[in-house]
This record gives sequence, C-alpha cells and structure tokens, in this order.
Amino acid sequence: MIKKIGVLTSGGDAPGMNAAIRAVVRSAIQKGIEVVGIYRGYNGLINGDIRPLEITSVSDIIQRGGTMLYTARCLEFKEKPGILKAKQTCIDNGIEGIVVIGGDGSFRGAADLSAEGIPCIGLPGTIDNDIAMTEYTIGYDTAMNTAMELIDKLIDTASSHDRCSVVEVMGRRAGYIALNTGIACGATAIITTEMPYDLNDVAEKIKNSRKAGKNHFIIVVSEGIGNSQQIAEEIQEHVHIDCRATILGHVQRGGAPTLRDRVEASRMGYYAVELLSKGIGNRVVGLQHGEVIDVDIQEALKMTKEFPKDLYHIANEIAI
Ligand code: ADP
Ligand code: F6P
Repeated sequence: MIKKIGVLTSGGDAPGMNAAIRAVVRSAIQKGIEVVGIYRGYNGLINGDIRPLEITSVSDIIQRGGTMLYTARCLEFKEKPGILKAKQTCIDNGIEGIVVIGGDGSFRGAADLSAEGIPCIGLPGTIDNDIAMTEYTIGYDTAMNTAMELIDKLIDTASSHDRCSVVEVMGRRAGYIALNTGIACGATAIITTEMPYDLNDVAEKIKNSRKAGKNHFIIVVSEGIGNSQQIAEEIQEHVHIDCRATILGHVQRGGAPTLRDRVEASRMGYYAVELLSKGIGNRVVGLQHGEVIDVDIQEALKMTKEFPKDLYHIANEIAI
C-alpha cells in the first residue's frame, strides 16, 4: 500500500483547484496515506519546496479561488535533468505518487515523471475546457459565469449609448468560453477559431438587427482570434456605429468557484486518490456523460475534442 503522496497545481490557476486539493488531502488521509503539498508547480519538486498537509491544512479553502499551493510554469521541468531532479526529490521525501492539477502541458510533465517511476494522476484544471478526454475542466464554469456577469455589465452601457461592444474572452486557442457566454448574453455574433467567420456578414447582421429595432450589439470574440480592437474598428467602419473593444483578461481566472466547480473538483480529487491507492499511475481523470473516468495520459494527449457546432448554430439562429 502506498504510504505518501504529493499534490501540486501547475500552469494557469483555475477556480476550484483548492476544492480538488482539499479532496485529495482529505481522502488520502482517510485511507491512511500521508500527503505533502508541492509548491509552485513542478518548481516545488525541483527545489524541494514541499510541506506536509494535514486534515485541517485544507480547511476553509473550498470556497476560495486561486490555489493555496501556488502555481507556475516551470521551464526546467521540460528538460531531462529537471525531471531527474524532481524524481530525486520524490525519492528523498518518500513521495510514491503525485496528483497533478493542471492542463495538457502539466500532463506531459506528469507522463514524463510517471515514466521515471513516480506514478502521477492528472486532474483537468483549466478555465479553457480544452482537454479532449473530459467534457469538463475545473474552473470552466466559474470563468464562464464571471465572463457572463461582466458582459451583462457591458450590455448596460452599450445599450445606453447605442453602441456595439466587442468583448474578448479567454480560452487560449479554444472557443468554449466564447460560445457559451455568447449564447448566455445574447451576442449578435460569436467569433472563435473553430468556425469560419466573415466580418462583412457580422456587419450585415448588425445592420439587419438595427432595422428590426435593436440599438446595441455584443460581439464575443475568443482570444485565439486575437485583434479584438481591430475587429471593433472594422465593424465601426462597415456599420457606422460607435464600437468599443474590451478584453476581459485575467479577471476571468479569479473569484469564488461555482457550486459545479467545487463538486466536480471534489469528485475528481477523490477519484485520483482511489487510483493512486490501488497503485495505478500515468492516468488523467475526467468526466464523460457526467461520470468520472480515467484515461492513459499519452492516449489523453492524442485525443481531439469536437467543437459543439450545433450549439454555435443555435446561437446564430436565435440572436439578432
Ligand atoms: P497547462 O498545464 O495549463 O497546459 P503549460 O502548458 O504552461 O500549462 O504547462 C505547465 C507546466 O507543465 C510547464 O511550465 C512545465 O513545467 C510542464 N510542461 C509543459 N509541457 C511539458 C513537456 N512537454 N514536458 C514536461 N513538462 C512539461
Ligand atoms: O489557460 C488558462 C489561460 O487563462 C488562457 O485562457 C490564457 O490564454 C492563458 O491562460 C493566459 O496565461 P497567463 O496567465 O500566462 O497570462
């Protein structure tokens, strides 16, 4: 039976990571497994920044955004000497398995460490929902709700000024946040990298909506498209409407996690410890049809995710 595990958060933080850490710590201790927190992602493994976590170390964090273990992007871990240093830290500290909460990049690191004999389990923690093996990532729901609330505020001011508001939301190269917030806020158009778009069509749609009596417009752009300022300028030129571009930015990563993020993070954290306690490593945990599942890390990294074109179609049909 495994005696000691570590837990770390890596890559961009996401609301709900704390709930996952809590679940890992509490469920491991219930099984008689010691837990250590590894600080600032893989840096903590390389530098030995490791501290024991007790049942009460994770009290009062389930409702907090960010990550109590801090997070980082660690370039040294991408090279073999970095991985070997991390392995040695595990040996020196008696760490027999690690739960890695992060995105695809973090899972690549987890696969490398698993190959060196330290079993790792990946938990999908990213607001982007861009991990193919799972339909849901920790932080996604909170980020979408934050973006939705902020866009609602933009609607107030856009409608008061007869303006068009071009809003850029996060998601790295993925358009899931854009699609869902666009529907939820009644955006006239949603522009993402997954779907072809033509600004002439967007302009035409705005003109038709104006004829139908609408005085303000929201265009949601995913950050993978980039140039939201330029899109605003082009729409202004085509339609002769006052346009403003707003980049929502990192505010989307903060705040108290929603109920969904807290619950799914807790389920997945618990499941990760179940796997490690059975001596299973090199897996990523995720959700499929609402059920918690696990997949080999290499397989998970090869998988691709379908963009929900039907939802995109609905959005276009019902928004003016
Ligand atoms: P995310 O996990 O959110 O995708 P990154 O891509 O920035 O974020 O990756 C987070 C960290 O995971 C990196 O800083 C690095 O420490 C580690 N990592 C990323 N790619 C690799 C890789 N190919 N091999 C080993 N470690 C990696
Ligand atoms: O992966 C989460 C995310 O917030 C992306 O949506 C965004 O592209 C990126 O991280 C921003 O990274 P950074 O925190 O390094 O600016």
